[in-house]
Amino acid sequence: MTMTNKAVYVQPGGGFDRVTFGSSDPSPPKANEMTVRIRASSLNYHDYAVVSGMWGPKVPRIPMSDGAGEVVAVGEGVTEFAPGDHVVSTFFPTWLDGESEIGDFHTVPGDGIDGYAREQVTMPATAFTRAPKGYSHAEAATLTCAGLTAWRALMVDGGLKPGETVLVQGTGGVSVFALQFAKAAGATVVATSSSDEKLDRLKGLGADYLINYRKDENWGESARRLTGGRGVDHVIEVGGPSSLAQSLVAARLAGHIAVIGILSGVTATLPLHTVLTRQLRLQGLVVGNRRWQMDMIRAIEATGLRPVIDRHFPLEQIVEAFRYQESKRHFGKICLDI
Ligand SMILES: NC(=O)c1ccc[n+]([C@@H]2O[C@H](COP(=O)([O-])OP(=O)(O)OC[C@H]3O[C@@H](n4cnc5c(N)ncnc54)[C@H](OP(=O)(O)O)[C@@H]3O)[C@@H](O)[C@H]2O)c1
Repeated sequence: MTMTNKAVYVQPGGGFDRVTFGSSDPSPPKANEMTVRIRASSLNYHDYAVVSGMWGPKVPRIPMSDGAGEVVAVGEGVTEFAPGDHVVSTFFPTWLDGESEIGDFHTVPGDGIDGYAREQVTMPATAFTRAPKGYSHAEAATLTCAGLTAWRALMVDGGLKPGETVLVQGTGGVSVFALQFAKAAGATVVATSSSDEKLDRLKGLGADYLINYRKDENWGESARRLTGGRGVDHVIEVGGPSSLAQSLVAARLAGHIAVIGILSGVTATLPLHTVLTRQLRLQGLVVGNRRWQMDMIRAIEATGLRPVIDRHFPLEQIVEAFRYQESKRHFGKICLDI
């Protein structure tokens, strides 16, 4: 890597053997822009898909949707931020508020545009929000994708109320955040994992009921039994084809299933009879807008919630970090220090 303004590139098509190291000099900030010294990023399955070549880029691309760091310079008209402020990037830099307005990834850093696997970037100031007070840069970086996805699923789309029950699947970034937000909001949590050891850790985070989805193939029924036969109010569905059928069983009548993940593939069979007779609400989502990120950060500051970071890697070891994610040994988030 060169010494100034280091950057990582994924060459067209992607693949771990097509990750290269170079530099990227930020332009001076124009009106309404700012330059940020990126200090940390965090890994998401989406970044893995880009870097590993599953959804490789068409052009050389700087990966990573998540970026946190400090403002070094602001352009004319920027009043929200000043040099020295700690900030965190947004997943959709142009979707500031209101209803979903983007149905793909062409505006997303690290996919449709260059992302944050670099030391410095100049972007519109509204491509960032301030970071939670007291958070490290790595902690802040976990919020852009995983944090906001869990927040939106439960608080925006789900309208979660204290006393409701939430089922979370596995121990990846999104699910651990969902568990934490659900507990902070006074919900009961049914947590699943493929590993008994990870289930113990989920218990430590406040999970009320634990199910090993490897050992219990009918975990949807089990979840329903644990709720006295009623079913859970919200399912954080990240497994995809291998878990959707059980998620439908776990949900209460007219329950909410946040269709978030595709960990086991992208095409599933949907038993329509169950969906319609049980009047289920399947809500697809992709992360969220800047306003919701600000709401989430306000809630984080009020509750003192801290992200669960499993491991840090230096930027230079980005491929090793993705190989670690691929091994599924992690619990919560994996971060890059930049
Ligand atoms: N729609 C959106 O806006 C959005 C945003 C973020 C992420 N996602 C998607 O959500 C999924 C999770 O993302 P992430 O970043 O949290 O991933 P991650 O951190 O890589 O999570 C991986 C963990 O999920 C669990 N898992 C793996 N396969 C599973 C399966 N078939 N059923 C249930 N759990 C399984 C495993 O936990 P255990 O070892 O405990 O079993 C694994 O360690 C991905 O598909 C990602 O693309 C979607």
